[in-house]
Amino acid sequence: MAFYTIEGIDGSGKSTLADALTSQHKSVIITQEPTHSVYGQRIRDSIARDTSDAMTNLFLFMSDRIYHINDTIRPIDTRGGTVISDRYTDSSRAYQSVELANSMHFDSPDEARAFIDNMVSPWEYVPDTTFYLDISVDTAMSRIDGNEKYEHRTFLTAVKQQYDIIAESSNHVITIDAERPPDAIAREVGEYIDGPR
Ligand code: ADP
Ligand code: TYD
Repeated sequence: MAFYTIEGIDGSGKSTLADALTSQHKSVIITQEPTHSVYGQRIRDSIARDTSDAMTNLFLFMSDRIYHINDTIRPIDTRGGTVISDRYTDSSRAYQSVELANSMHFDSPDEARAFIDNMVSPWEYVPDTTFYLDISVDTAMSRIDGNEKYEHRTFLTAVKQQYDIIAESSNHVITIDAERPPDAIAREVGEYIDGPR
């Protein structure tokens, strides 16, 4: 299996890129988190409320990810193929570290991220490459409707800081300048994807 993930703050263009990669590479399987399962639906319901509990959300995202691995990623690993996931474990590292720190469970997002990393690492399928779509919070805010718990300027600024740290410290993350037009981004990322076009 070739396993790629796309990460970035809300509105960074992940879904747009995933669509473009499907047209470029006919054989890739695109998947996403939160999934369309009951676990994913439960998360969407939870994060629609600003008052939802941070630790609960962490475990909901984890449950959905385990479903995602069992339902989609492991079977493709067994039979072979190319998978691109629109969000995966780095979303939990980046978003839930900020959410947990904001809710006083931890002294800082960095401390919370270490906790999440310990939770995730033993069972994670590590992606071959993660494409981190890097955009400013100003650009993100101009593209999103701000309806969810996480879609606020201060929150996304802190999440972007976490993504920047993760990108710098991980050797499988490639940072993509996502302020450019969609076709330029898709061309650059498409060069890294294995498999027939
Ligand atoms: P995400 O999946 O990361 O939340 P989307 O792909 O849904 O982001 O894009 C959010 C919005 O921004 C959509 O309206 C989309 O058309 C627009 N958009 C996506 N990529 C770009 C880009 N490179 N330049 C300008 N607008 C973009
Ligand atoms: P998504 O539907 O991908 O939002 P968008 O397309 O706007 O980027 O994801 C919903 C929200 O869930 C998004 O704000 C990011 C958040 N999220 C986490 O906080 N942790 C996670 O582990 C995942 C997968 C998503």
